[in-house]
Amino acid sequence: MNGNLKKDASAAERVCSFLDEAGVFYLATADGDQPRVRPFGTALVYGGKLYIQTGKIKNVSRQLAQNPNAEICAFSKGVWLRVSGRLVNDDDRTVKVAMLDKYPELKSMYSADDGNTQVLCFEDATAVISSFTAAPESFSL
Ligand SMILES: Cc1cc2nc3c(=O)[nH]c(=O)nc-3n(C[C@H](O)[C@H](O)[C@H](O)COP(=O)(O)O)c2cc1C
Repeated sequence: MNGNLKKDASAAERVCSFLDEAGVFYLATADGDQPRVRPFGTALVYGGKLYIQTGKIKNVSRQLAQNPNAEICAFSKGVWLRVSGRLVNDDDRTVKVAMLDKYPELKSMYSADDGNTQVLCFEDATAVISSFTAAPESFSL
């Protein structure tokens, strides 16, 4: 599978477009030896990297601080996506602003300076787009 691994600036855009179209994806973290999974909907490409958004007060944030290994999975129109890697906190205010601008409905709950809003970017990540009808496509993020 790594033989066709693609890495270029458009990989994060391709993955984010899939997530945008799916609307919902599922984020898995590790809580000690207990897997945890929950629905997420925020995804943004900034500086060529794929970001998600959460709140620092959430269990998901605490789990990622302790163990950044994470996966997301989404399904849309017979095609599914898995992204595996590390989700790393980024306190760059400009990314938080861009994220909230993409999802203005979040502004009633979050702001860039509230001390809670968190954006995390995938590092050392592999994305695979799969279906029952075509060969998997792999991307490095
Ligand atoms: C469709 C949908 C999308 C969601 N998107 C997000 C999101 O992008 N970020 C977030 O922090 N919570 C989001 N949530 C809420 C989380 O799933 C919820 O807060 C969850 O409990 C967080 O996991 P935790 O309890 O392990 O911290 C979303 C919920 C739904 C139903």
